[in-house]
Amino acid sequence: MIKKVAILANGGDVSGFNAVIRAIVKTAENNGVECYGFIDGYNGLLKNEFEKLSTANDEHASGILPKGGSIIGSSTNANVFNYKVIENGEVVYKDLSDVCVENIKKDGFDCLFTLGGDGTQKSARDFSLKGVNVIGVPKTIDNDVACTEITFGYNTAVSVAAEALDRLHTTGETHHRIMVLEVMGRYAGWIALESAIAGGADIALIPEIPYDINKAVEKINSRIAKGKRFSIVVVAEGAAPKGGTITIENTRNNGAGVDNTKLGGIGQIVAKQLEHLTGLEARNTTLGYMQRGGTPTAFDRVLSTKYGAKAMELALEEKYGVLTVIKNGKLDYVSLEDVVGNNKTIGAVSGNTAESNIRKVTMDHDLVKTARNIGICLGD
Ligand code: F6P
Repeated sequence: MIKKVAILANGGDVSGFNAVIRAIVKTAENNGVECYGFIDGYNGLLKNEFEKLSTANDEHASGILPKGGSIIGSSTNANVFNYKVIENGEVVYKDLSDVCVENIKKDGFDCLFTLGGDGTQKSARDFSLKGVNVIGVPKTIDNDVACTEITFGYNTAVSVAAEALDRLHTTGETHHRIMVLEVMGRYAGWIALESAIAGGADIALIPEIPYDINKAVEKINSRIAKGKRFSIVVVAEGAAPKGGTITIENTRNNGAGVDNTKLGGIGQIVAKQLEHLTGLEARNTTLGYMQRGGTPTAFDRVLSTKYGAKAMELALEEKYGVLTVIKNGKLDYVSLEDVVGNNKTIGAVSGNTAESNIRKVTMDHDLVKTARNIGICLGD
């Protein structure tokens, strides 16, 4: 019987981190298992910094269901298998994973829950290969983790983007402008596509479809011909023109296995081009971290709770080296190896995430078909 488990939240924050933590802790408590949280993701595991998590009155993990962020922090730069350290004034990268394995053994944790996206789950798989009992939970607003139909945090991001589009609609309509909204989505256009449908956009540009700006111009002109002197455009940060490249705001030296580019700027580029080519004024809004912060939607609270409870259930059954997933609409689990091994899209990604799978929008997906049916221009 397991007695003591630990959770870590890793990667960019999303709404729903705390809801997953709460569900793990509650399910653990209901089964007489003690729960701890490592502070700031894999960094906490490396430094052996953790704290007790309990839902008893006024305790740390109480009242956190609607709270954004993560009560145990998170880290976007912690690949302990290739960790950035300064030695004699020089930056060097070291595999410090054995220190983490020792910490887990020393502290007596029977299982480690890893809440995160593909990079996080790749490290989780590697820890599993080193004999650690690991169970992953799929997080990311981008919704691009392989083997699951949905990640927690995604629905909230789409809702925030849809609300932004509603607001851009009224100002665009009033001033007869093209309103561009740049949303997140490095390699996958799920947020852009779904929020475009939810927010009634006219054009959606996603990483999976290299766009021809002239197609967007045609769409705007056809609207002008019908007397509609405004248009709404959603652009995923990872969208790129046909034959062109993605727009990088800056690069950072995070260590292999952690994405080293910060994307951004494509919305402004598209807005300028559309203004020039249509003669309508255009404005860009970059939604940025609004998509990740704040309270989760009811959908994300439920999904996160399902994921957290399932993860603890799997631990009680001693099923390790797995990721909780939604498959055919049902709560399930798959091997971490299936999630991060066997890369299928190496050529399609940038940065240094090439060893991970990325779940992209496919052209036969309902969202693509729906968008096309109602006349949303996808830039092709
Ligand atoms: O992976 C999720 C994500 O929100 C991406 O869409 C975005 O490119 C990235 O995180 C930004 O992360 P940060 O600036 O926090 O490193």
